[in-house]
Amino acid sequence: MHTNDAHRLYTPHSDIYLFAHDDRERGRLEGQHQVLTHGIGGLLHPPVHFSSGNRILDVGAGTGAWILDLARTLDSAVQLYGTDIEKRLFPRSHPDNVQFVVASTLNLPEAWTNTFKLVHQRLAMASFRVPEWPQAIKEIYRVTAPDGWVQLEEFGIYKAGPATDILRACHNELWVKNDLLPNIHSARMLHGWLTEAGFVDVIAVKHQFQIGDRIGKHGEHFRSVMTETFKGLGHRGTKEGGFAHASQEEYERLVRMFLEEVNKYPGVAFDYWVICARKPSS
Ligand SMILES: C[S@@+](CC[C@H](N)C(=O)[O-])C[C@H]1O[C@@H](n2cnc3c(N)ncnc32)[C@H](O)[C@@H]1O
Repeated sequence: MHTNDAHRLYTPHSDIYLFAHDDRERGRLEGQHQVLTHGIGGLLHPPVHFSSGNRILDVGAGTGAWILDLARTLDSAVQLYGTDIEKRLFPRSHPDNVQFVVASTLNLPEAWTNTFKLVHQRLAMASFRVPEWPQAIKEIYRVTAPDGWVQLEEFGIYKAGPATDILRACHNELWVKNDLLPNIHSARMLHGWLTEAGFVDVIAVKHQFQIGDRIGKHGEHFRSVMTETFKGLGHRGTKEGGFAHASQEEYERLVRMFLEEVNKYPGVAFDYWVICARKPSS
């Protein structure tokens, strides 16, 4: 493991986003997409059906894994869009009814007001400072069509064993330094901001992912995705001057211990929230 790997590529388009935008990150996001979609039992959670001409938007789409998978299940007359501040992870090829647009969720195109029957956002905790979140949700509200739905997905708390507790303290340090929203508050805060923006029928469902060998190949896959996530945060921590809780070597040792702890301790769990809400019809 090379925590201070100088070859990781970070976007110049955000001064806070913590993860890289390179082929290694593409692999991490694609693997994570498989694990999460399996873990929550599918792509789509609000009670919504699509017909010809309907539009769907995935903000902060990354590699586009979610929107491309959804496109495969729908009629080609449905129009799908993915946006991101950085285009480097966008797919090199995609069907004609899927488009990728460079845009910040904090400032989506004016022409998109009241447009999308569904807006999806997954894993944006490292994208916005806490004071920016209400603006992100307001923009999502603005571009959602009347009677349309939003689906947000974020991790909650995670626990495994004592080494994982210290890793979590390192990650919290990065979060606090960058004024990001801590995972522990994600569901409660998102619920509040959705309501403030005008959404109704807000429902937050907590999924709890098991992880590690004892639950078979999905648990093993999830373990390797989380390991890669922690390594990514380690690269960032080192870039920002290291962690108060652990030197670079200690951080690397903690990640190796995390790999053992998820197979060893009972009560290992990763909470994951799916929050859906509707924009009123008028
Ligand atoms: C953790 S990745 C998740 C990608 C995708 N949603 C998924 O679940 O596979 C977060 C993405 O948000 C993007 N991002 C960061 N800040 C953003 C902003 N202000 N507006 C839009 N996208 C942003 C990043 O470039 C990155 O691709």
